[in-house]
Order: sequence, then C-alpha cells, then structure tokens
Amino acid sequence: MILCRTPEEARRFRADLYRQGRSLGLVPTMGWLHEGHLTLVRTALTENDCVAVSLFVNPTQFNNPEDLAAYPRDEKRDRELLEALGTHLLYAPGATAVYRPGHLTSVRVADLTEVLEGGYRPGHFAGVTTIVAKLFALFAPDRAYFGAKDAQQARVIEQLNSDLDFGIEIRVLPTVREDDGLAMSSRNVRLAEAQRPMARLLYGALSAARASIARGGADAESVRAAMRMVLGKGEGVRVDYVSVADPRTLKELDGVINRPVLVSLAAYVGDVRLIDNLTVEPPGAP
Ligand code: PAF
Repeated sequence: MILCRTPEEARRFRADLYRQGRSLGLVPTMGWLHEGHLTLVRTALTENDCVAVSLFVNPTQFNNPEDLAAYPRDEKRDRELLEALGTHLLYAPGATAVYRPGHLTSVRVADLTEVLEGGYRPGHFAGVTTIVAKLFALFAPDRAYFGAKDAQQARVIEQLNSDLDFGIEIRVLPTVREDDGLAMSSRNVRLAEAQRPMARLLYGALSAARASIARGGADAESVRAAMRMVLGKGEGVRVDYVSVADPRTLKELDGVINRPVLVSLAAYVGDVRLIDNLTVEPPGAP
C-alpha cells in the first residue's frame, strides 16, 4: 500500500493510473476504522481496479473543539487494517498539507445543509463539502463510497457532485450495525459499557417509527412523538432532534405518510453525540 502525505504525491499516483487506464474508487474517512468503513473498502475493491482511502480528521467540520480533540485516532491500526484488505493507496495528510497557510476557499451546498444536522452543527457541512470537493478534485475517482448512516451527508455530497459536475458515481452503502442494532460509528468507542443500553434506544426509536409506518396510515407528527417516547426512556439521553423528512429535499413532512421517508434522529448519550436513520416505505407506496 502506497502512503501519501501531500496532495502532490496523491496527484502523481492519480496521473499514473490515468496513464495505465485503470479505474479508481475513493473511500473518504476520518479514521478509527470500523466494519462500516471496511465494508466500503471491500466493495470499492470489487468495483474498481484501484482503491484509495483518505484518512483525515478534518478540523473544519467540527463545530465543537472538544469533539475534535476527543475524536479517536490510531493511524497505525487503520493502516494495518487497510493493508490487510489490499487497499492500494492511503492518503493521510497533515492539517497544513490540506489547509495550507492562506487557504481561503470554502464550498457550500445551500438548503440541504440548513436542516437536521446543519441546524445543530453550524458550519459542519461547509467543512464536509469543502474537504470532499478537495478530495474529488485531487483524486477524480470513478466512484466514491459513503455510508448511509450519514444520510444527510450522502445526500449533500450527491448534490455537490451533480452541481460541480464532478461526474463521479456516488455509492451509498447500507449502515452496518452491531448485533444489538447500534449503528457502527467511530464515536461508539467513547461509550461506557453502562451507556450502551441507552445508545441502543436510538435504533429502538427508529424501529418503533418503522413499525408504525409499516402498519400504514401513520401520521408524521405521531411518528416523531413515538420516537421521542422511546428515547425518553433513557436516563442521560438528550435529544437534539427526531425527524420524518423527504429523503431528497430533507424537508419535514406533515400528515399521513404515503411515500418513502427518511426517519432520522440525533441524541447525546452522556457527552457522546450519536446519529442514526432508516429509510422507510409505507405499504403501497409509489
Ligand atoms: O463521514 C466522514 O467520515 C467525513 O465526514 C468525511 C466524508 C470523510 C469528510 O471528512
């Protein structure tokens, strides 16, 4: 596996692939890899000649400095996991190689970034879209891989890809869950054993929403109330939002649910902020 620390090195790798006519899959990550990331890499390896993984804890997408400081990091462990899978290149730049002194450019997707996560994490999506646009420009991959756990991020990146004419195939793969339903996340490592039952309530709330929508005739507001009720069972669970929204516009829905919806939520378990979602179809949806 080739290790690149600077955009210049990564660009040379990309130029060699062009010359050889080989396709490239890109898996952007912030490291502390779990089975969700590894599934993205394995899939990318089956769909492309070469796979590049980026590992960069992007400071501009953290609206909270304590969250950035607490983000788990272990590059050696991540390197070994990627090497074992047969990854071709790891791009692990330092912060100043990415944001060189005097960096002034930021990429912003309107509307989609102002709701849900955007409402609670000001500036977060501008950080995400700026780093992803930089990675897309640098690697010009044929395909790029993201997890459905960050459903809003995936939707925003699809819009970015379309609006800026990158022409990349955006692959969004299903959320990988622990046996108890908890969505895999690099942040889970910060949960104490005693907090796990509370963290499980997130998937419990989504499952309650799914069950109520699957019965047919459910009203969006009552589904949100049902999710809040499940989350309310957890002492130490602090809810940021519960949402029943249009999967494309991400706008909240009202009234009877008669088409596929994105059901999502964000909550703190202690000081760990977790998000999760499901896309759910009512019976007989078009
Ligand atoms: O999902 C993530 O890990 C990050 O938001 C991403 C896409 C790697 C950008 O830093």
